[in-house]
Amino acid sequence: MLLSERANRIKPSPTLAISARAKRLRAQGEDVISFDVGEPDFDTPAAIKQAAIEALQQGFTKYTAAAGIDELRAAICRKLQEENHLTYEPNQIVVSCGAKHALFNIFQALLNPGDEVIIPAPYWVSYPDQVLLADGKPVFIIGTEAQGFKITAEQLAAAITPRTRAVVINSPSNPAGAVYTLQELRALAEVVLQHKDVYVISDEIYERLVYDGAAQVSIASLGDEIKQRTIVVNGFSKTFAMTGWRLGYTASDAKLATAMANIQSQSTSNPTSFVQIGGLAALQLSAEEVNAMVAEFDRRRRRIVELLNNLPGVSCRPPQGAFYAFANVSGTFGKTYKGQLIETSDALAQYLLEEAKVAIVPGEGFGMGTHARLSYATSVENIEEGLARVHQALTG
Ligand SMILES: Cc1ncc(COP(=O)(O)O)c(C=O)c1O
Repeated sequence: MLLSERANRIKPSPTLAISARAKRLRAQGEDVISFDVGEPDFDTPAAIKQAAIEALQQGFTKYTAAAGIDELRAAICRKLQEENHLTYEPNQIVVSCGAKHALFNIFQALLNPGDEVIIPAPYWVSYPDQVLLADGKPVFIIGTEAQGFKITAEQLAAAITPRTRAVVINSPSNPAGAVYTLQELRALAEVVLQHKDVYVISDEIYERLVYDGAAQVSIASLGDEIKQRTIVVNGFSKTFAMTGWRLGYTASDAKLATAMANIQSQSTSNPTSFVQIGGLAALQLSAEEVNAMVAEFDRRRRRIVELLNNLPGVSCRPPQGAFYAFANVSGTFGKTYKGQLIETSDALAQYLLEEAKVAIVPGEGFGMGTHARLSYATSVENIEEGLARVHQALTG
């Protein structure tokens, strides 16, 4: 069958590929420990579920405005004001079916064929493919481990060309858990403001998941000029354990918001009606409920980093945010384990899945093949058992 060039341009998410193999093994009765998941293992808080149930029972089951109900857009404005010091009007908010969908709308609204989007590596796997789907060109800058997996203002300045339309800033980041400081964001903003058609796509979906006193700052909050050039992306999946609900949003310049709302109205229409009511309840949740989840993630983070640093050939910088450890596994390359030569992160992940029945995500898909990602959105017991198995596979 003949497929579009566009469809042929993109690849399935590499994180899903490992998960699918782990699932197959599990279906065969194997006891697989998963560090590959990108979602909290906690259940959605009860108050959020209850609000959606009541909305269903009251018949809130029809189409809504394509960009989301007014109450939710207004509540998002209040949240942005109170938590991020950002002033927006509801007509600047577009509510979508997850932050992934919000990002998709941005690239569709912003890019012409050949337009460039700067993506710092290591990056979340969907950015490059979404840019390709919009006929754009991903341009990568490496945020090395020595730089804390972050890019510098000098690197950004050097990567900007007349075709650059946007730079993606994801802080805290997936996969590295990197958190940009206020000073670092200021320096990046200064570079962006020197180029009148360059926008910042600020993916803040992990904003509440920060540790060791790190503070998440929205680059849009650094002044009116940079705010006008920033599209804030956020969602409910990670903070409120709502990955399956599919709810996210953008805050941006009103003209861009209207363009994105139009695109959405001709593709998915509104995010699910009663899910929006769940989102409204999430924004009213007490900080304690979220803080309890963050504290548990922090406990797991410390343990996984400690255990990773005890593995031969592996080292891991403590991540400051999100729920992933991004370990340098290049010390295992060139070595033979149980007769198997490991030369890439991909090969290591396959070996560990077969030998130890442990699923990790190789770094190649994140643009950094020297590393591998382990999600610690799983119990401390699983972390300890899983890494004991990995230790055995790398030493036994
Ligand atoms: C950095 C980043 N942005 C956006 C998303 C998308 O989240 P969702 O579509 O569930 O809101 C994810 C999910 O893994 C992510 O890691």
